[in-house]
Amino acid sequence: MSNVLVVLSSVRKGRAADNIFDLVKKDLDARDGVHIVVADLKEINLPFFAHELTPASPDYIPTDPAVIEWGKLVTDADAIVWLTPEYNHSLNAVQKNAIDSLKNEWIDKPITIVGYGWSGGSLSIAALDHILPWLKADYKHNPAELAFMKDINPDGTIIDEASVTAQIKATIDEIA
Ligand SMILES: Cc1cc2nc3c(=O)[nH]c(=O)nc-3n(C[C@H](O)[C@H](O)[C@H](O)COP(=O)(O)O)c2cc1C
Repeated sequence: MSNVLVVLSSVRKGRAADNIFDLVKKDLDARDGVHIVVADLKEINLPFFAHELTPASPDYIPTDPAVIEWGKLVTDADAIVWLTPEYNHSLNAVQKNAIDSLKNEWIDKPITIVGYGWSGGSLSIAALDHILPWLKADYKHNPAELAFMKDINPDGTIIDEASVTAQIKATIDEIA
């Protein structure tokens, strides 16, 4: 049994992330031996990173319960499916803060990406292209890029089922 952590990184009311999650869950549910764990950053509600030490420091010991919970979810995951919306041609601040709040937890962690937005989240993915290798994650660069008005509606519901299913399958195959 492998624990696959699915990260929802939007905290907006009415977010498309919930419908994108359903598409990812459908793929994962069809695979043998997968236990889905959800990290909903809206529920975890991490504080903005403000520790006096960098998480890379051996003396960095988080005390905030939300940071501890987040670190445990990442540590315990065998692989991660990261849902990434694009805000202003990059990651939203919630994603970057969640990444910045940890350090060694990312090393060798298999991570694959499902982007969504007007250009499939391509510029959010481009930011992760820099960040995840720097953190020495086992970054699988074969993202799903779900484009509004082509693959999915702006609320995350499906338009082109064949395209969406194939893209999500291909990116999750990377961590299977
Ligand atoms: C502050 C903000 C900036 C945005 N900037 C972009 C953008 O640069 N590119 C894009 O494709 N979509 C952009 N969008 C649209 C989002 O992709 C869209 O709202 C999407 O549904 C966000 O995911 P969520 O609903 O799960 O939060 C932006 C949305 C917000 C709220």
